[in-house]
Parts: sequence; C-alpha cells; structure tokens
Amino acid sequence: MEVHLTPADLRVAMERDVRRGLDSSPKELPPVYFYDDRGSRLFDEITRLPEYYPTRAERAILEQHGRDIARTAGASILVELGAGTCDKSRVILDAMRDEGLLGGFAPLDVSDTTLWEAVSALAVEYPGVAMTAVVGDFHEHLACLPREGVRLFAFLGGTIGNLDPTQRQGFYADLLADMLPGDHLLLGCDLIKDPARLIAAYDDAQGVTAEFNRNVLHVINAELGADFDVDRFIHQARWNAEDHRIEMWLECAEATTVEISDLGLRIEFAAGEAMRTEISTKFDPEDLRRELDASGFAVESSWFSPGDDFLLTLATPK
Ligand code: SAH
Ligand code: AVI
Repeated sequence: MEVHLTPADLRVAMERDVRRGLDSSPKELPPVYFYDDRGSRLFDEITRLPEYYPTRAERAILEQHGRDIARTAGASILVELGAGTCDKSRVILDAMRDEGLLGGFAPLDVSDTTLWEAVSALAVEYPGVAMTAVVGDFHEHLACLPREGVRLFAFLGGTIGNLDPTQRQGFYADLLADMLPGDHLLLGCDLIKDPARLIAAYDDAQGVTAEFNRNVLHVINAELGADFDVDRFIHQARWNAEDHRIEMWLECAEATTVEISDLGLRIEFAAGEAMRTEISTKFDPEDLRRELDASGFAVESSWFSPGDDFLLTLATPK
C-alpha cells in the first residue's frame, strides 16, 4: 500500500479545515472527515438502506453494461478514486477480465483501514492482478497513481456531487492534467428527482445517516481534543432547489460552547444554529454533459439506471 497521506498529514489538513470552517458563516465542515473506520462502516450500512437508492442503481448499470464499458474504455488498469470498500469495483474488474483486458487495480482513498481490508480481500479474489492501493486525497494525490498501461479512472457513487462547482472544476482540471492519451473517466452521478425521495434517502427511518452525519463530531473530538456534545446536534437533510443539491446539516438545539483544545479555540453555537457538513449535488444529464465539455472532456457514452435514477458517463480528454 502506498501512503501519500499519513495520519500526521491528515491532522494538519483537519486543523486547517476545522479552523476555517468553524470561522465561516454559516459554519461548515468538509465531508472528507466523515470517513474514519466507524464513518466508513456507517456509509457501508447506508448503501444497503431501503431509502438509499444510488448504490443499487449504479450497480445495476455496471451489471448490465460493464462489458460494454470495459470494451469501449479498452483499459488494462482500473483506477478508482474514493473507492471505499471497493464493492462495485468487482463488477468492473470482472467485466475487464471477461474482456481479456484486466492487468491491475489502483484504488485511492483517504480511509486507510477500509482500503487495506478491501484490497487484501481483492488480492486473493483476483490472483495475478497487480494491486496498488493508494492512501491519498483525490484533491491532491492524483499524480501518485500508477501511470503504466491504459487507465480507466472510475469516480463512482455520486461522490463528484459532494464537490461544489468550483471544486468540481479544479478536480476535472487536475484529472485532465494527469490523464494520458487513451485513458478514460467513468463518472457516476445521481440525478435530480422528487425531493421527497431525496430527503428520505438522506434521512432514513433507522437513523443511520443521522449517525453518519454526527460522526464528524466524534472524529473532531477524538482527533483535535474537542468536546462536542454529539447528542445535542440534530441531523437535518435539506433540499436546496436553487443549487439542486441535498445538504446535510447539524443543528444545535440549545446554545452551546465547544472547546477545541488542540486548536486553542472556543466556538459558540446559538440555539437553533446549524452547521453544513455535506452537499450532495443532483445533476441534470444535459448540464452534466455541458460541464464535462466545458472542462475539457468529450462524452463517449452514457447509461441510465432503470427508472433513470442515476447516470454513468464514460468520457475522454478532448
Ligand atoms: N466509491 C464508493 C464509496 C463512496 S463513499 C461507492 O461508490 O460506494 C466516498 C468515499 O470517498 C469514502 O470511501 C471516502 O473515504 C472517500 N473520500 C472522501 N473524500 C475523499 C478525498 N478528498 N480523497 C480521497 N478519498 C475521499
Ligand atoms: C459518498 N457520497 C456520494 C454519499 C452521497 O450520497 O452524497 C455520501 C452520503 N451522505 C449521506 N448519505 C450518503
């Protein structure tokens, strides 16, 4: 496993982001800090909830069109950004193997234990396939990915929607700078739909998403010596119709002071004050095509899930 983001690096970034985010108005925290071991397990649980359709929808596309995707991309190396448990990777790896193309797999993720467990299992399941797990940040470490062979960069699950338009522009530019002739991007995007379904997907009846949301406070308590009283923060999923995105917020019911001892900070929360912890953008297929085009990508093919819930797009640098 290649480690380009050590726990010490992650801590430096967290100090910077928490300082900046809690000083802004409204307060906000970047979603990357959800994913310690517990957060990654909670996300995995979310993917199996009845209300959370994106994982099943994307998997259905991969199962139906995986070989077509593999053939069109013609890649021997699957690179996966934000790979997590690498569950859906298997569907693409199988398709690449069935097409006689598969040579290697290089998943990148910030969550080191999750990645290590996933790749250890895959190494047994796919003997002879070169595995290069990269602990890194997809905003910073794309250049650390293996460069030999034709690569298919998969960015699945709708994680692109967790970036705002400016972050997406930066991400596409970094990716383009790193891609070589013949490489492809396979991008999974959740689509705009009935807000009631979206809210349910992000505020499930069992409260798993609420625990996932609050987990960021446990992480900051553990890493930065903060004293967030986690149970005082209430999970909210709001539909922002103007920016067509679900936003997760944590609302503090009563006025509270939080001490973050490692940062020497005292943060005041007013009664009813909410802090934004994630955006999850939902796309219009035509807007997405325009966004990719304006960012230097040509769309080669795209596939809708049954019921048009989710879209997978295969694109190349123009
Ligand atoms: N691709 C998987 C997992 C999605 S969850 C799926 O489709 O189900 C988002 C994943 O991205 C998590 O595993 C998280 O650890 C990782 N992640 C979030 N922000 C990241 C960042 N900035 N750099 C690298 N990985 C990141
Ligand atoms: C990882 N990402 C695409 C998920 C999403 O749907 O935005 C994270 C998530 N947040 C709440 N539920 C799932």
